[in-house]
Formats: sequence, structure tokens, C-alpha cells
Amino acid sequence: NAAAAGAIAVIIANNAEGKLSGVTLGAPGVVPTGGVTREDGTALFGSAGQTVTVDLRYHEEDRVSRNVIAQTKTGRRDNVVMAGAHLDSVENGAGINDNGTGSAGLLETALKLGGSPKVNNAVRFGWWGAEELGLVGSTKYVQSLSFEQQLDIALYLNFDMIGSPNAAYFVYDGDDSDAVGAGAGPYGSGQIEQAFVEYLTVEKGVQTEGTDFTGRSDYGEFIAQGIPAGGLFTGAEGVKTEAQAAKWGGTAGVAYDRNYHGSGDNLGNVDRVALDRNADALAWVTASYAISTES
Ligand code: PHE
Ligand code: ZN
Ligand code: ZN
Ligand code: ZN
Repeated sequence: NAAAAGAIAVIIANNAEGKLSGVTLGAPGVVPTGGVTREDGTALFGSAGQTVTVDLRYHEEDRVSRNVIAQTKTGRRDNVVMAGAHLDSVENGAGINDNGTGSAGLLETALKLGGSPKVNNAVRFGWWGAEELGLVGSTKYVQSLSFEQQLDIALYLNFDMIGSPNAAYFVYDGDDSDAVGAGAGPYGSGQIEQAFVEYLTVEKGVQTEGTDFTGRSDYGEFIAQGIPAGGLFTGAEGVKTEAQAAKWGGTAGVAYDRNYHGSGDNLGNVDRVALDRNADALAWVTASYAISTES
């Protein structure tokens, strides 16, 4: 079957035109000599004689995706505060919580900061492409930097899903101090975690929890290269506990975002209170590191 062939891909139109002859749509078919190829003759998947089922739910295309990077003209360029959010979404839905919320929160801070703010450290913003295809944009970006350029980044802040409709208030567990799903980042990540926790606790009266910091979003390549990182997250497919509903409101026994990667991820399904609090935390922590990265 298609899974055994390692493929989620076929060009439907080509098949309809008989250009993938020997392969049956939606039913088992035997791969012809040379495997299944594209119109231009390049290999798609499969080897001759193998039985495959082409799954019509998927198709393959080559697409170009881009990151959008912007940096203040002011501030030290060898001690840059970087903040990022992914712009892309899955095909199923509009991707408003995942990740319009993070992208919009970041944009608002960038606009309010302006191009030449009075900061000691430059602020660099990254709106990533192709996160949903495996952190592609952010990974390419970090790997495209020389070692010296990587050293110029003091820290990285990530915002991926900050307005989930049954919101949790999670801060990436940068120091592995939290029991559940923990995973420590490079030295310095714990201080970033503390900055977010302090702001949300003191200014917003919200008790936060630590969350998995093992690389399920665009901070992954930053910590892989030893750059301290942190960020906020209001939860995806995980289910809210009774204790969490008691301190944060919302519904126990229901996913933090029941529309995660689904068609219901639209403007009507954002917790605007959570988005507001987290957008303020984004702004505050970014600005405070722009003033100083000394603890
Ligand atoms: N990166 C995930 C997505 O875009 C969401 C996520 C963020 C999951 C942070 C866990 C932690 O689908
Ligand atoms: Zn996603
Ligand atoms: Zn996401
Ligand atoms: Zn911690």
C-alpha cells in the first residue's frame, strides 16, 4: 500500500490522464517498471512489481516557502534578541490559533517597537515558513548562519499557539524544573522561563505551568545549536485536567484546542483573554531583553 511505499503523494491529474499507468486510484495496483514517476520522468515512489494503493486525499507539489526576517536599526548587533512565530498553517483550516495568534502577537510588538527604538540590543523578528512540514523554515534559517552569526543571537523567544479556546498557560520548561513533559534547553533558557512566569504571575495574576521543551516548534534548531530559548503555549491536543480548570477556567476533560489542525481553527475559536495576556507577555519580555540581557 501507499504507506508501505513510504509515500503520501501522487499527482491525481496525471493519473487521470494515464500518465501513472499501472497504478490504481483508491484500489491496489501494481507499480510498473521504473516505479511511479512524475510527468517529467523523475521518481515519485514505489518499485516495479510492488502493489500500491494511491490515496486520493494527498497530492504532492513543489512549493517555495519563505521566512520573513526584520531587525531594528538600533541596538547591538552582536547581542540580538530574536523572537519568532510560524506563518504557515496546515491545509485543513485557516490556522488562526495555530498560528495566527503567535504571528499577530509578534507583529503587534514589532509595529509598536518601530524600526529605531531606544534599545541596547537589536531586536530581530522571524516569521517562519513551513513549520508544519517539520520546522523547515526556522531550521534552514539557523543552519544558514555561520557560527559567529549564531553567537550574535543572545536568545530566541517562540510563540506558537497563544490563544487556544480552552487555554492553558504554559511556559516552555527551560530548566527542566517541572515534572511533566520536561526537557531542559541550553544554559539561560531557565532564566527566560522565569521572565515569562514572573510577568504572567505578577502582572496578570495567572499561575503558569511548565511544558515540554524538547523541540515541537521553531525553537528546536535554536536550542540544538546552543542558543538559549523560551516561549509561550496555550495547549493543543492535550486535555485540560480538573486542577487546571479550577485555576484557569475552561472545561476539564476537553482538549486545550479541540480544533487543533482542524477546520474549526478559525477566528471564532480563539480565547481572546488568553491571547491578550500572552501578547502582553510577549511584548514585555521581548522589550526587557532589548533593554538588557543581564540578569
Ligand atoms: N508546533 C505545533 C504545531 O504547530 C504546536 C505545538 C507548539 C506543540 C508547542 C507543542 C508545543 O502544530
Ligand atoms: Zn500546527
Ligand atoms: Zn503551530
Ligand atoms: Zn522550569
